[in-house]
Amino acid sequence: MVAPMTRTSSAGSPSVSSSSPPDVGARLTALDGPRLVALAAAVLAVEAAATLATGPLTASLGELLRVTARTSLAWFLLAFVARPLVAVAPSPASKWLLRNRRYLGLGLAVSHAGHLAAIVAFAAVAPTAFWADREVGTLLAGGLAYALLAAMAATSTDRAAAWLGRRRWRALHTAGMWTLWAVFAVSYGGRAGVSVLAAVLAALIAGAAALRALALVRTRRRGPRRAAA
Ligand code: HEM
Repeated sequence: MVAPMTRTSSAGSPSVSSSSPPDVGARLTALDGPRLVALAAAVLAVEAAATLATGPLTASLGELLRVTARTSLAWFLLAFVARPLVAVAPSPASKWLLRNRRYLGLGLAVSHAGHLAAIVAFAAVAPTAFWADREVGTLLAGGLAYALLAAMAATSTDRAAAWLGRRRWRALHTAGMWTLWAVFAVSYGGRAGVSVLAAVLAALIAGAAALRALALVRTRRRGPRRAAA
């Protein structure tokens, strides 16, 4: 998902690597490329300042955990639907998403580093409350998701992807993408019955997976070589 997708040539115009479809739109906007990662860092800083400025520290950190998780979901979904959206409904907007998928994925990594920082701070400030609510399965799934996300971010450059090899890169990013999807799906799906927001977010998460399935079916019909999204 943190895809080695676009390269900037020496002339400054983006070129598309072999892992991208040929036409993802080349016109740069104010919000293209690394600026998206800077935006993710700025959003995280605002979230930290806004939540930590209010109330007792434990409650503030709990709020920061929830806010960072929701922002991470937004980055995740944008990266997750980029390729299937271009396959199903090509438009300037979907091509923008696909062109910037690498940076949307890095935005997720930045935002989720904030979630991790809030986890560590929460566990340090209120260890009893933190460990009382934790289950081993949640910790293992969350830990695995973080390990995969770190590996995806580390292999998001064309150079690292070439070093890893196309098949291993694809296996890593597919496993990471679906592990993250599953953690989000279980987190919100598990509370969909008691929270309207959780129900809406769970529906979005399920809809994103359905979109990928639809895109896979369509691209398979067009030709097996283009099927792997
Ligand atoms: C071992 C790693 C992790 C730990 C210990 C952890 C811990 C927490 C805690 C304490 C909360 C707040 C729960 C509450 O206030 O009810 C939370 C919320 C959440 N976390 Fe994590 N987390 C981890 C990894 C992840 C990962 C990898 C993801 C996503 C892929 C994720 C997604 C979420 C979501 C969706 C929420 C709910 C936010 C909301 O209420 O809107 N977490 N997490």
